[in-house]
Amino acid sequence: MVASLGAGTAAALAGAAVLRMMGHGAAGALLGAGGLALGAGAVWSAAAYRAFSYNGKRQLSREIVEGTATYIDLRAGGIGLDVGCGSGALTIACARRNPQGAMVGIDRWGVEYASFSKALCEANARAEGTTNVSFRQGDAVRLDFPDESFDAVTSNYVYHNIAGRDRQALLRETLRVLKKGGRFAIHDIMSFRRYGDMEAFAESLRRAGYARVELIDTTAGLFMCPREARLLMLTGSTLLVGEK
Ligand SMILES: C[S@@+](CC[C@H](N)C(=O)[O-])C[C@H]1O[C@@H](n2cnc3c(N)ncnc32)[C@H](O)[C@@H]1O
Repeated sequence: MVASLGAGTAAALAGAAVLRMMGHGAAGALLGAGGLALGAGAVWSAAAYRAFSYNGKRQLSREIVEGTATYIDLRAGGIGLDVGCGSGALTIACARRNPQGAMVGIDRWGVEYASFSKALCEANARAEGTTNVSFRQGDAVRLDFPDESFDAVTSNYVYHNIAGRDRQALLRETLRVLKKGGRFAIHDIMSFRRYGDMEAFAESLRRAGYARVELIDTTAGLFMCPREARLLMLTGSTLLVGEK
């Protein structure tokens, strides 16, 4: 994103300058405004990259992945599912904390996030010396598992990417594969625009009999402080379901 928005900004501003020189002032101004908007996007994505990167000082990705993994305690022989595992970071973090169980990571790979793949996940697991993980192609919209297959289900920053879908319906599809008494920890940008009324959704789960349902605002001090969240223009919540 940083590279393509940066390149788009440069191209749009150069085009605007050429149009102005050719006497097309209005078209140049329009293209220039587009270039400035792209430039703002490039600055935002560079700031987000610095904050999230494992190579940066802040290491937000690590904090969120490790923080989400702390919710998962598998029983001996228990199996957890990580939906939209990407490069396998959260799958591996949960597996490392639960050597008595195993984790399965699924992802559709290849649509966005070009560097993520099954091979990368497997290489990352090998690099971490983690053997109680496996990875396979799968779609979060329709999980290829029977009802109540897993002792735990995790996910991080996935569902907001799935455009044109009712996100609460996606969460219900994910809950479908969780065993009774299992643990569900999903972290995402759960804004009203993307997810609708999540407090009402949590209440509907409580009414349906789930023992513990919590909606944790992770940008109110857990993973980010409110000021940092405002600067990065991000909201974040973890939906936690099931007894600890
Ligand atoms: C921002 S990345 C997050 C990756 C990983 N969960 C993490 O925390 O690093 C979003 C991931 O969701 C995956 N994804 C998006 N839509 C999906 C779908 N319908 N089914 C499975 N994976 C999906 C993408 O391929 C990508 O790997």
